[in-house]
Amino acid sequence: MIDPWASTSVDYDKLVNQFGIQKISDMISEIKDPQRLMKRGVVFGHREFDEINKLINKNEDFAVVTGMMPSGQMHIGHKMVVDQLIWYQDKGAMLSLPIADLESYAARDMSFDKARKIAVEEYLTNWIALGLDLERDNVNVYLQSENKLLQDLEFKASRKTNFNQLKAIYGFDESTNMAHMQAPLMQVADILLPQIEEFGGPKKVVVPVGIDQDPHIRLTRDIAHRLSEELGFISPASTYHRFLTGLTGDKMSSSKPSTAIYLNEDPETAAKKVKTAKTGGRESLKEQEELGGEVDKCVIYEMLVYHLIDDDEEIEKIREECLSGQLRCGDCKVRTSELMREYFEDLKDKQIEASEIAETLL
Ligand code: TRP
Repeated sequence: MIDPWASTSVDYDKLVNQFGIQKISDMISEIKDPQRLMKRGVVFGHREFDEINKLINKNEDFAVVTGMMPSGQMHIGHKMVVDQLIWYQDKGAMLSLPIADLESYAARDMSFDKARKIAVEEYLTNWIALGLDLERDNVNVYLQSENKLLQDLEFKASRKTNFNQLKAIYGFDESTNMAHMQAPLMQVADILLPQIEEFGGPKKVVVPVGIDQDPHIRLTRDIAHRLSEELGFISPASTYHRFLTGLTGDKMSSSKPSTAIYLNEDPETAAKKVKTAKTGGRESLKEQEELGGEVDKCVIYEMLVYHLIDDDEEIEKIREECLSGQLRCGDCKVRTSELMREYFEDLKDKQIEASEIAETLL
């Protein structure tokens, strides 16, 4: 069982085998100009993404849904979803972006007012600053608590499941409070919303998320099927990305400042934090030269792959120099830290303008 509200580490291969998630690597050659994270195996799994890929190649309509639970500060790990949304937006997709204030009320004890403030100041501001265009006609950003169409759809979805199913998927029991039990059904409704008449009727939807959200995807696909007769819905596709490793080597977590680089950090602090990151370096320089670095265990290398270097050849070069022991961790850290500083200087400028737009969206 995967618990979407707990933060635990995951065995990606096991998940692929156990839950019937397909590997992106098996279809990468069919994707035209694949998004960087797909190409690099960070987006590693999917359900029915081949269907979405066909629609992209034929220039046909589809929608993308991904939500945010407004519970705290945004960190660079959250940037991964935004990068994917930008890619889909370039392909002409409709974007439907829920802010899950009902979920954060139920699962994180967050008031509606505070959730709205976090949504605007952290999430929407940074989404825009990172390059997403939220002002286009085919973008729908909303708060769950204020969306009547969503709430009606949630009610319809609820009729197609029962306590036994929620218990099997989430481990809920008789003492689980009813708001928490409704949170996943709200998310089901978020994912199905682009298919209602008001948004043009049934269509293929893709949900790019972290693997912890897969229980919601499974539930949604099941309920979509059961609603096919009444509303004509089809099942949504999904993609799954790996989590960003925290600076300490554990999962990056908003609530643990020593693991995370927050997007509102000043450039100096961001650069400094990079220098605290765990590397794949050996005990001594001699060993490093003989054995090479452990590049796949290195948080610095991961930052380069996920966020800081676009050029594939450049990444490959760094990888090889590290593995052969030519590259020293110290030098690599200094360079990465500088790249992070530049990145954050640029982001700072963009955040100022973005925050004004963000204020007008909800
Ligand atoms: N549950 C998600 C989270 O914890 C937020 C979310 C709400 C979501 N609705 C969604 C994600 C719809 C994907 C699709 O971050």
